[in-house]
Amino acid sequence: MNRRDFVKVLGVSAMAGWASLEARAQAAVAPLKELADQKRLMFGSCLALKYFNQSPAYKELFLSQCDIATPELHMKWDSLSHQAGEYDFSNADQFVAFCAANRIKVRGHTLVWHDSLPAWVKQKISPETAKTMMLDHIHAVAGHFAGKLYSWDVVNEALDPGSQRPDGLRASPWLQDIGVDYIEQAFRATAAADPKALLVWNENYLEVSNGFGDAKRKAMLSQLDGLLARGVPIHGIGLEAHLRSDQANVLGDASYEVFLGELAKRGMKIFITELDIQDTSLPVDVGARDKAIADLYRKFLTASLRQPAVRGVITWGLSDSFTWISGYRPRKDGLPVRPLPFDANCQPKPAYYAIAEALEAAPRRA
Ligand code: G3I
Repeated sequence: MNRRDFVKVLGVSAMAGWASLEARAQAAVAPLKELADQKRLMFGSCLALKYFNQSPAYKELFLSQCDIATPELHMKWDSLSHQAGEYDFSNADQFVAFCAANRIKVRGHTLVWHDSLPAWVKQKISPETAKTMMLDHIHAVAGHFAGKLYSWDVVNEALDPGSQRPDGLRASPWLQDIGVDYIEQAFRATAAADPKALLVWNENYLEVSNGFGDAKRKAMLSQLDGLLARGVPIHGIGLEAHLRSDQANVLGDASYEVFLGELAKRGMKIFITELDIQDTSLPVDVGARDKAIADLYRKFLTASLRQPAVRGVITWGLSDSFTWISGYRPRKDGLPVRPLPFDANCQPKPAYYAIAEALEAAPRRA
């Protein structure tokens, strides 16, 4: 980021020296939630409450930056229920109470997913039981939080071209044991349990303009057309956006913007729901790595936010000290990964300034 942009982001009119500006920025960076709010957008992150116990500074950072949050774990089926028919909502309730006390909206995550199922579900699921299990779960969980959540990720990662089906749907246990209409049933049941929540289909890799991503986009639009024609209550699409630095040339391009336009034409609100950028294939040099990551944040978000139907940006963590990528895609050289906008000391990185610039460049929503 150049000096002029730095000044713009901070809203500082006097062109003081670069060094003193940087010092001020370290002391108090412009909160991303405020930059977003100026455009009637939301900014937030996922969160697991245990991170606050490990780092009080992280709690401060979270409160300063976020006006929307997604529980990284607390509302998943395997976090809520260890035995058939029994639910322990204590952690999820604590999450919701913390957010309510701090005026942070909550994205419920997630009701129907093939992953993070408790052992008892995996044992019991069959063509005879699956529908009742899914509907009972939605009734119990969406019912428990009714009226308290901004949105629900009703269905998560339900597309997979790798399943080799003409409709592009994932051959998940839900699809195999209930049939293709499990998606419709899930949305209808969630609407009945929590009529106020915005109902979202959250999906991965739709943002990548390659053969795999194109197949997912085609399947998504076709599914959406069917659901809308049948009057199914679906209000939004979540684009996870777990991005990879080595895919920069197929991210944030014109065909991606065309796809966002197709979602918007169908009346969908769009959310970037789990944004982070893997630096696994980037060089050792931290400056070079941070620049490449920042450049991709800027490119991807600038393209995304040009589309007015995009209403919020949620990153999958804020600081590099709490990221699933350190376990999922660690660097071969053993160096800590740097996929998020703030470093392990909660200080802003070039990625933070890139996000800030993209928010500043975004058109204000009506
Ligand atoms: O808490 C247990 C701990 O007691 C145990 O010792 C340890 C041993 O493996 O596991 C711990 O649980 C892990 C949990 O994260 C907390 O760290 C689970 O095994 C692990 O599966 C879980 O991973 C989460 C994953 O979803 C599955 O739920 C990641 O943190 C979370 O970042 C990730 O988030 C997903 C989104 O929900 C959907 N989109 C993709 C995204 C990334 O995979």
